[in-house]
Amino acid sequence: MMTQTAQTNAAPLGGDQSLVAMVPRINIHAFCDNQQTAETMQMAAADRRMARAHTTIQLGGIMAAVQVFQAQSTPNVLLVESHGSRDVILSELGALANVCQPDTKVIVIGHLNDVVLYRELIRQGVSEYLVAPLHQMQVIETIASLFQNPKSAPLGKVLAFVGAKGGVGSSTIAHNTAWMMSKRYATETVITDLDLAFGTAGLNFNQDVSNGIYDALGQPDRLDATLIERLLTKLGDKLSLLSGPGGVDRDFNVEAHAVETILSAMRNSVPCIVVDVPNMWAPWIKYTLMHADQVIITATPELASLRNAKNLCDMLKQARPNDVPPKLILNQVGVPKRPEIPAADFGKAVGVDVSCVIPYDAQTFGTAQSNGQMISEVSAKSKAAEALNGFVQILAGTDKPAKKASKMSQSLFAKLPMLRKK
Ligand SMILES: Nc1ncnc2c1ncn2[C@@H]1O[C@H](COP(=O)(O)OP(=O)(O)O)[C@@H](O)[C@H]1O
Ligand SMILES: [Mg+2]
Repeated sequence: MMTQTAQTNAAPLGGDQSLVAMVPRINIHAFCDNQQTAETMQMAAADRRMARAHTTIQLGGIMAAVQVFQAQSTPNVLLVESHGSRDVILSELGALANVCQPDTKVIVIGHLNDVVLYRELIRQGVSEYLVAPLHQMQVIETIASLFQNPKSAPLGKVLAFVGAKGGVGSSTIAHNTAWMMSKRYATETVITDLDLAFGTAGLNFNQDVSNGIYDALGQPDRLDATLIERLLTKLGDKLSLLSGPGGVDRDFNVEAHAVETILSAMRNSVPCIVVDVPNMWAPWIKYTLMHADQVIITATPELASLRNAKNLCDMLKQARPNDVPPKLILNQVGVPKRPEIPAADFGKAVGVDVSCVIPYDAQTFGTAQSNGQMISEVSAKSKAAEALNGFVQILAGTDKPAKKASKMSQSLFAKLPMLRKK
């Protein structure tokens, strides 16, 4: 509705914009009537959520659209802007109606906050009326919502954990975070372990794991809620794992498209998806980080970690201007006799404040690893457990643990059959 739209415009980055859905593989054509709107459209088109869509932007307003579509068919979504009065807009849209295919969704951008005009446009079949000036996230959210089933479950959030180098503790932190999300916040959570050969998720939870991740990556387009359910290994009441048994006997090429398809399919049914991203660099790794809702970089307080964390942060901030910056965790801090870079200096050099400092604690982490337990299970009162707790609080956005199961936290397995019917 128009009033809601106006509110979104007032505080474009205040809400949880990471939950704006991906725009599907569609054609979008925008006819702006001023440079400012054209620039906003360009910023929208460059956003990760629009990566699948094909967007064309030109100036000229509604009448330019009328001219162009006399000779060619209209796209899936047509955005047209007008500076005109109510009567001018309605008459220009009348001309557009003559050349517009019935299945094209039309979004009108105007400069009048006019409820009568809004109602008339909706009555005539316009999908949405937006009042300029716009924020790029408002454009993306409006387009995405045109293709979303309002009845579908809330979208899940993809949290991608990556280490600034190998062995910094990224996987351990990912697993502990997922466990706490499922226990303390009663949020249905799936860990996706993308470290096919050396992944430790199964070991860390003391579980035998099937070949689920290979099946998922091998046939991503077949993935739906039912198949995902079959490929998951249950780790707890609200915690599941998509992983492999680990091993080097398979040559397996991961494709960016496959990972994206798996994560998109899971987002439809799982509220929290923790992705354990291996420490290596390949197009599919970059793609996974680029398309996550939140990236969490774990580093140790030394120079190589600092350089790599900075490079990752710079790349991600530049490529994801409409997303929150990556979160930075400094782990294994306080190794006796080791010279270390202080957290404040580390954060300053990387350009992202350190969200969480976890002390080096060989006994607790070692025990957790050999028992297949989580840090809080081994030593709930340890500094490491406290630090992890604080970090998960930041991610969850609240320090209030869940009291009773909410809609979001219904068992995944209870929820999947319901989704299957759709
Ligand atoms: N704060 C810590 N103190 C002591 N050992 C740790 C700490 N964090 C992680 N470890 C240990 O470091 C090792 C590597 O951790 P892992 O999570 O596999 O790293 P990564 O995924 O970054 O390669 C594991 O044995 C883990 O138990
Ligand atoms: Mg790892």
